Parts: sequence; structure tokens; C-alpha cells
Amino acid sequence: MNQASPANHTNHSAKLRGRFSGRIGYVLAVAGSAVGLGNIWRFPYLAAKYGGGMFLLVYLILMVTFGFVLIVSETALGRMTGKSPIGAFRSFGSSLPFHLGGWINAVVPMLIVPYYCVIGGWVLKYLFEYVRGNALSLAEDGHFSQFIASSAQVEFWFILFSALVFFVILAGVKSGVERVSRVMMPILIILAVFVTIYSITRPGALEGVKYFLIPNFDDFSWMTVVAAMGQMFYSLSIAMGVLYTYGSYIGKDVDIEKSTTQVEIFDTAIAVLAGMMIIPAVFAFSGGDMSVLKAGPSLTFITLPKIFVSMGAGTLVGIAFFLMFLFAALTSAISLMEASVSSLEDELHLSRPKCCLAMCLVMATAGTASALGYGVWDFVTLFGMSFLDFFDFLTNSIMMPLAALATCILIIRVVGLDAIAREVEQSSPFRRKKLYYFFLKYLAAICITIILISSIANVLGIISL
Ligand code: PFF
Repeated sequence: MNQASPANHTNHSAKLRGRFSGRIGYVLAVAGSAVGLGNIWRFPYLAAKYGGGMFLLVYLILMVTFGFVLIVSETALGRMTGKSPIGAFRSFGSSLPFHLGGWINAVVPMLIVPYYCVIGGWVLKYLFEYVRGNALSLAEDGHFSQFIASSAQVEFWFILFSALVFFVILAGVKSGVERVSRVMMPILIILAVFVTIYSITRPGALEGVKYFLIPNFDDFSWMTVVAAMGQMFYSLSIAMGVLYTYGSYIGKDVDIEKSTTQVEIFDTAIAVLAGMMIIPAVFAFSGGDMSVLKAGPSLTFITLPKIFVSMGAGTLVGIAFFLMFLFAALTSAISLMEASVSSLEDELHLSRPKCCLAMCLVMATAGTASALGYGVWDFVTLFGMSFLDFFDFLTNSIMMPLAALATCILIIRVVGLDAIAREVEQSSPFRRKKLYYFFLKYLAAICITIILISSIANVLGIISL
């Protein structure tokens, strides 16, 4: 979700630049954009699927190294140039590579937002069912798979969720939604802590706590690294152009390093909390059944209803939880859509309604394909994946590494590490400068390239990870 949501208002940017009220406003806005479906839906299922504690360890290492380096880089570039990604790249050169570098960062949100809204639709549908008092049937085995196979329903909830997003964007009531979510977020955290305590104290849940927290090297596979890196980008809103824009809104007095650390801690704490809520519950309710652990995108939707019902107050907890989950998803979707619409406005010089219309078309095609991909269109697979999984894979495992690579190359070859360091040092000493230099200079580009090539080779069947 997104508190101040200045994301990519580049066309209005001159008016809006510097509108964050110092570091706290900035941290709240970035943390707001970071916390969304990625934390509550995506992180737990990836952690369950790709090695539990091993996944968590790899994720944490990547976050304090690459994640830190990339957030600082994108924010500093945004602040230095005062522009969002396309403009920022172009301010260093006007040849094709600079255009490509900016565009790849700007296109990612356009490809994420359609399937993000499909999952937003799932959240909306579950909230609706809780309100109708159907907590018991939501917790039944097979309920979720039946739901996602019922194409008309999934499409309906997807359209409803998308309509809410467009309404907020067009009616300009964003700040209202964001104010509400400022209240919702702390309640979501308290509720999640409460559910976590309940979940980990169930008989059999301890095995799940161990699986999630203690790394076991037998659970390591190269896919653990690929998935953890994609998730880190996704969750921290890296390599989507968004942080460039946020950076362009902050004053020279804002401590970029400290803010980055705070955002990382906040975002990871919520992801870990969601993991602790869901993974031990899988062990408690189905004895750590591998097929449930590897359920993938459905895991959160299968496990949460079971926990809520077993708490004895399924309806109440279900309504409260899914209402806040909905706000987190809604505000993130709004910021993704805002980023997409603004990039189109700036680059195509079209009016806002026309750009919204263009995004409607993207939503109608990519979103509908994702919505129907588990139902009537389940016979269509792309590289063995359903549409939703394919868009998720394409953005997270291919386009975001490419976008991150473009940022690294821009800094190494054109901007210079010293220029970034000077930008950071305008407000405070750059305490982890050595780490920053080391990772950016020697490791980031190489590692991102290896991960990128291996995930492409994997999907093409050349290697098996
Ligand atoms: N980081 C968000 C999540 O984890 O759900 C996704 C996201 C939202 C990315 C908004 C980018 C953004 F602008």
C-alpha cells in the first residue's frame, strides 16, 4: 500500500517535488508501497515452496546486500535527476540504451498490475464470503481450487477490484484511501501477531516454525536463489521505476541510507510475520503435507480460512483480516496503476483519461488471461505456466533483473559510484559505503546476470534447477 503515493506523477512532478514531509513522510510512503500482496500472499508461498529456512536465509542475505545497494541507487538517481526512471536515464544520454534502460523500469508495473488485480479480486471475494457468514465453507478442502476454476466469478471479482482502482485514480480520492490505510496497517500488524501466536501454538505447528526459521542445506536449490531475488525486488518495489520517482520527491536533507534500512526492516518484518502465520499452520492442519506446502499461489487462501475457523471466531477474524488485507492490496495496486498511467502520460503525451483507457486495454487482455488461466483457459500454458504464473515469472524473474541490471550498468559506466556516494552524503555520512562500492562494482551485475540466465535456461528446459 502506498501512503503518500507520489509514484510517477512525473507530469505534475514540478508541482509536487519535495512534497514529502522529511524522512518520516518518505519512509511511510515507501514502506506503504512496499507492503502489499507481496508480503502476505507471495512471500509465504515462496518460502514454503523453496526451502523454508533456507529461503528465508537467502532472502535476508540478498536484502541487506543487493536490496540495500539497489534501493540506495534508485533513490539517489531519482533525487539527483529529479525525475522518474525514463527521464532519469535520459538525463545521462539520449542514445537507445538509455531509452531502453528507462523503459524497462517503467514497463514492469504495467505488466504486474493486471495480475495483481486478479489476486486483489480473490481477496475481495473472500472478504465478501466472510461478510456473508461463509467462514466454514471457505475453510473446506478444495474450496479455493473450485473458486479459481470458476472463471466467470474470478473475472467478476477481478473487474470489481480493478474498477475500484480506476475509480480511485480517476476520482482522485487517493489521499482518502491512504489515510484509511494508515490506520488499517497497524491494526493488520496487531491482528497478524495475534493470529501468529495462535498458529504457532497449535499442536504440530512447531515443526513448521522449525521448517520456516531454521535453514536446512538439503532444502537448497538454485531456484531458492532465483525465487528469493525475484521476491526481494517485488516486495521492496525495486526495479519497477517506483523508487526513482520517490527519490525525486525527497529533499537533500533526507538520510537515504537510514530510510532504506527502516523500509527494509518494516517490509521484512511483515513478510516474516505472514510466513509465521501461515507455514506453521500448514504443519498443524495437514502435518506438513508437501503437496500443501508447495501449493503455490493458493497457499495463503487455503491456509488462512482454516486457521480462522479453528480459532472459533472465523467470521469475525476473517472479516477483520481480509478487510485490512484488501486495503494493503488496494493501495499497492493504486500505486502500480498510478506509476503505469503517469509513465504513459509523460512519454506518449496523451491525456490522463486516454492513458487510463490504454491501461484498461492492458488490464482487459493480460488481466482477463490471468483470471481465466486457472479455469476455462487452463489448456493454454506458456512455457508450462498458466497466464498468471507466466506474468509473475516474466516480471519477477526476467524483467526486474534486467531493469536492475540497467541501473547497475548506468551507475558503473556512466554516472559513477562516487557521484552516487556524493548524493547520499549530502544529508549524512554514507556508513555502508564500502559495502555499496563492493557489491555494485564487483558483484551486482555479475550475480544478476547469472540468475537471469539460469532462470531463462530453466524455463526453456535447457537446465533443470
Ligand atoms: N511491493 C508491493 C508488494 O509487495 O505487494 C508491490 C508493489 C506495489 C510494487 C507498488 C510496486 C509498487 F509501486
